[in-house]
Amino acid sequence: MKVCIIGASGKLGQYMIAHALERGYEVVGVCREQSVAKLDRFADRITIVPGDTDDREVIRRAVAGCDGVLTVLVPWGMNHYASGTAQAVLDHAEPSARLVFSCGWHITRDGKDVYSRKLRALVKIGGFLARLARVVDLDDQVEACNRIFASDRRWTVVRGSDLEEGESQGLPVWAEHVGDPILESNLTRRIDFALFMVAALTDDTLVQRVPAIVGCESESARRHATASPMAQAS
Ligand SMILES: NC(=O)c1ccc[n+]([C@@H]2O[C@H](COP(=O)([O-])OP(=O)(O)OC[C@H]3O[C@@H](n4cnc5c(N)ncnc54)[C@H](OP(=O)(O)O)[C@@H]3O)[C@@H](O)[C@H]2O)c1
Repeated sequence: MKVCIIGASGKLGQYMIAHALERGYEVVGVCREQSVAKLDRFADRITIVPGDTDDREVIRRAVAGCDGVLTVLVPWGMNHYASGTAQAVLDHAEPSARLVFSCGWHITRDGKDVYSRKLRALVKIGGFLARLARVVDLDDQVEACNRIFASDRRWTVVRGSDLEEGESQGLPVWAEHVGDPILESNLTRRIDFALFMVAALTDDTLVQRVPAIVGCESESARRHATASPMAQAS
């Protein structure tokens, strides 16, 4: 199995590299030129393709021959970085490749997610201020996901809850929609978000799905794991 990790130098990306190597996968990592040094500890075990993740030529080279592509979708800047990244992956990945993208709970595919007032306010006010400061464009992450949803490729969009650092607790549980009681704790270890992303590569039940995840040891997961019909303890 050969996998490409796009956005490899970030926290999520580095955890995904570690999980992929642990599984014996061949890894190609794409990261910005100025971040290559962050991957020093992996340098002799992976191929690094330096460049912006929305650079179509960089992505074309990096995903060639890959069975799976793991993409960290980030809404940085005002130049359509997330949608450019997603489009480049959709256009250049091998036809049969599994494509797994990361984002947050705020992304909805069918509008049936039920959000807390706090999350709605955070997205609305935080998103507005970040856009005003021209630092982050949440709308572009939404656009990126809409393009993925419209694609007939073998994609999965993994929606992360709030994240924390710490040792792995195991594969997160997930639900089809935010608002499912199993997700109530709204906390996942970042290392386990990465574990879910890598596990999705070989889980065909997740093709064209949009799982919202939460830590398997979180209180709500433990309380509802067997009770909720929507909960899928993968
Ligand atoms: N943070 C959360 O609480 C949270 C919650 C739910 C879901 N998520 C999702 O989890 C994924 C990872 O997010 P994360 O917050 O944990 O961050 P992360 O893993 O550290 O990744 C951040 C990524 O953004 C890149 N980046 C940083 N500044 C940039 C810039 N100015 N221009 C272009 N790229 C830039 C980084 O690349 P460099 O290494 O080159 O800087 C890195 O690839 C995202 O898809 C996010 O939507 C996050």
